[in-house]
Amino acid sequence: MGIFKKIFGICETKPPANNDCWTFSDQAVEIDLSITPELLISGGAVRLEGKGLPERIMVFHGNDGKYYAIRNKCSHAGRRIDPLPDTQQIKCCSLMGSTYDYKGQVVSGAAKKNLDTFKVITDQNKLKIGLG
Ligand code: FES
Repeated sequence: MGIFKKIFGICETKPPANNDCWTFSDQAVEIDLSITPELLISGGAVRLEGKGLPERIMVFHGNDGKYYAIRNKCSHAGRRIDPLPDTQQIKCCSLMGSTYDYKGQVVSGAAKKNLDTFKVITDQNKLKIGLG
């Protein structure tokens, strides 16, 4: 990632190309994987914002084959996060670049608190993420 992106905290993870792939209601997010190609590949990720979500979320397909949903806000100063390619870690997009493991626990950097994580249930072609 370039220095410019780090200074401004610009992350690599984008909103889904088809923003109709997810819904939010009753404190739960549901993602239709059949129209979310970003999540079909290991290491792929999307960021979810808006639609009444109480907080922004990053959803990703880990290198271990599992799906994860994590509050998309570094616990140091609130920048967004990205999966760190070819590892089982997540990295803050800032210059400080705190890293976390897939469970949201701090691995390195300025962050002192873990990230909030959300339970993800895979149901056929859908991901269900409870925020309550
Ligand atoms: S905002 Fe993430 S390390 Fe500072």
